[in-house]
Amino acid sequence: MTVVYCTTVFRKPAQEQFMNIIITGSIAYDYLMRFPGRFTDHLIGEQLHQISLSFLVDDMTKHWGGVAANIAFNTAMLGLRTHLMGTTGRDFPDYRRWLDNVGVDTSTVRQIDEVFTASFFVNTDLDNNQIASFYTGAMAYAKNYSIADVYEGQPDLVVISPNDPDAMIKLARECRQRAIPFMADPSQQIPRFTSDQLLETTEGARILIVNAYEAGVLCKQLGQTIDDLQAQHEILVVTQGASGALIYHQGQKIDVPAFPVDAILDPTGAGDAFRAGFLRGMAADFPLQLCGMMGSLCACYVLEQVGTQNHNFTVSEFVQRFRQHADDEGLLDSLLVEASVSG
Ligand SMILES: Nc1ncnc2c1ncn2[C@@H]1O[C@H](COP(=O)(O)OP(=O)(O)OP(=O)(O)O)[C@@H](O)[C@H]1O
Ligand SMILES: [Mg+2]
Repeated sequence: MTVVYCTTVFRKPAQEQFMNIIITGSIAYDYLMRFPGRFTDHLIGEQLHQISLSFLVDDMTKHWGGVAANIAFNTAMLGLRTHLMGTTGRDFPDYRRWLDNVGVDTSTVRQIDEVFTASFFVNTDLDNNQIASFYTGAMAYAKNYSIADVYEGQPDLVVISPNDPDAMIKLARECRQRAIPFMADPSQQIPRFTSDQLLETTEGARILIVNAYEAGVLCKQLGQTIDDLQAQHEILVVTQGASGALIYHQGQKIDVPAFPVDAILDPTGAGDAFRAGFLRGMAADFPLQLCGMMGSLCACYVLEQVGTQNHNFTVSEFVQRFRQHADDEGLLDSLLVEASVSG
């Protein structure tokens, strides 16, 4: 197995830096279907103007999902209780119980009984071709709520993840107006925004996090370079898939290695888990490279399962696995102490 060599000199953690993190964004159900045939056998060229197709699927699984819920789930697994903010439908109660049980604060979620929770339906065939539909449902109501509506007081950090686009813009505005530090995580919504809207969701963000592909699109849409972005944000994180991540901070480029994965069963949700590990490290005031490495390791657990919340680990197992590949110079001990205190 690869041993990750860590070059940063870690400093001692100060007190918990961010105690109150609000994670805003989508909360959704994922319905994954498998079609035991080939879609292309049924798409008849001369009849494409009047499609009427039904695929009999022999396998369907329903998973908990949504970016904000995935991040909050993983931070809870790492022993950090965060506040999940988003809008859901009348089918939310069992999902709420699930998140409550793991240790996510769902009192900040608003349930709208007239609609269903946002749902992603994807049918995959034998060639891994996919036909998908995303039902926005309750997510369309997210723009009706401000942070002040669901949370009393000043949070230490707000994460603005993919959501109803107007909601993302409004949340970023509120953070700027109220001087709340925020992390902009626009990912799959980047193509939805005009350049002005994109600027509105990211401007003033203390942390900007994207994957390498999104970084390219973002730069193009904003007419900027990575250097411009790093000058505007205290911390810029660009995840790089199997190569790990790069963190730009105070003119420095910090290389974050990936951890070895056993077997990749499903790539979905690695980015969300990375964010959770990274936030857990930030909350403990760990050095940025260690925060990134916690993100990398957290992502491995998701890659090794189908679904984005089907993995399980204790803080102690996480620390052990980390130490099989990298040296944290004892810093992760503080997570173990907290986990044992909170029981
Ligand atoms: N094949 C891999 N092996 C090890 N680690 C990986 C692998 N793929 C991703 N990771 C880890 O997950 C992190 C996030 O992955 P990536 O950059 O692909 O994000 P993403 O494209 O936003 O993912 P998502 O599909 O969840 O949106 C990486 O920074 C890395 O630490
Ligand atoms: Mg992503």
